[in-house]
Amino acid sequence: MENFNFHSPTEFVFGKGRENGCGIYVKKYGGHKVLVHFGSGSVVRSGLLDRIKASLEKEGIPYVLLGGVHPNPRDTKVYEGIELCRKEGVDLILAVGGGSVIDSAKAIAIGVPYKGDFWDFYSGKAVPEAALPVGTVLTIAAAGSEGSGDSVITKEDGMWKRGTGSTLLRPKFSIMNPELTCTLPAYQTACGATDIMAHVFERYFTNTPEVEITDRLCEAVLLTMVNETPRVIKDPNNYDARANIMWAGTVAHTNICGVGREQDWNSHGIEHELSGLYDCAHGAGLAVVMPSWMEYVMKHDVNRFANMAVRVFGVAMDENNPENTALEGIKAFRRFLHDIGMPINFSEIGAKEEDIPVLVEKFGLGETGRTGGFVQLSSDDVKEILKIAAHATL
Ligand code: NZQ
Ligand code: ZN
Repeated sequence: MENFNFHSPTEFVFGKGRENGCGIYVKKYGGHKVLVHFGSGSVVRSGLLDRIKASLEKEGIPYVLLGGVHPNPRDTKVYEGIELCRKEGVDLILAVGGGSVIDSAKAIAIGVPYKGDFWDFYSGKAVPEAALPVGTVLTIAAAGSEGSGDSVITKEDGMWKRGTGSTLLRPKFSIMNPELTCTLPAYQTACGATDIMAHVFERYFTNTPEVEITDRLCEAVLLTMVNETPRVIKDPNNYDARANIMWAGTVAHTNICGVGREQDWNSHGIEHELSGLYDCAHGAGLAVVMPSWMEYVMKHDVNRFANMAVRVFGVAMDENNPENTALEGIKAFRRFLHDIGMPINFSEIGAKEEDIPVLVEKFGLGETGRTGGFVQLSSDDVKEILKIAAHATL
């Protein structure tokens, strides 16, 4: 195991009805004037926004509202938020929604104290040094942004989807009521489940030896998702299954499963080009990319893939030929994704094979660059993975 620091300062407030106390946590973390940030209307329709407002009013905390965050959140909304916060003297941002709303809130939080253009943090020109505190009320188990130090934003001009990361971006508190996720369409639930599993796989496939604890934590989250996701797809109001998935989503991406080990992250990088260009849901893009990436890199460590197949998908180990086991595991993953309603190839997310050169160019490795923790990929490798993704079948 490698040396590591793990600092996860978020207070997680979990369970039924907990959003009704959000004003208490805003006060606890120093909010005197709050920006309540939300998406395209689900929190208005469900009545959640009214309950948040009531809780803030009960604590005597003034607030301003900024809705309209698009899934795959845009830089334009972030600029609007930064300006509003400065004008109104906002000192805490409360994100009420999913990963998109939370990521937009985080971008505003680092943009307000920064003198330059907030996009500098996403283009790699600057590193965040100060941030307004962010709290969240989570409405979808997916991105894990409620506990992560990451934020992903799309620049509308050119549709560049890019991320930034800093411990400063970890929320001060996250309110997590699994009941709030019961209104999700089945497709969004499945997209979230795919993202959660992908966050674990990005960490699971590693070259670091002797990491039994994090291997087993990863497998626990994956098994939970394999068991619980079909339950909520069948019965959207199953509180216990929703609760297990919600906490799995957080555990998958706080990095508790990834400390002390090299991680990969190429499937995410490649997917961000798909959701950047086609505006598909991040989880849907991952369902297309990740099994294709697995097929392409499997030979790098057949035993690790075979172990995953046995421990997560219950495939029988072929002792004479572990490669068969590994392949069966990848097939089982793709079948699982299909069964919960996810796409498996380009046409199902509106992607086009003729765009592959554009996707590879935007990925940005050029002729000589390489990236990735488990397997270092070149532009040609990315092209091959996208070709597999274009035509994948069950
Ligand atoms: O906008 P509203 O009306 O709220 O609708 C949303 C949106 O259309 C809807 N929704 C959310 N909660 C709902 C609901 N509908 C009914 N009932 C509810 N309870 O679901 C749709 C998707 O929401 P979104 O926030 O986009 O989903 P998700 O949490 O999957 O976030 C995706 C974004 O997070 C980024 C992705 O790239 C993508 O941009 N990621 C962020 C990460 C991070 N910050 O750590 C890591 C991830 O790997 C990921 O890249
Ligand atoms: Zn993700």
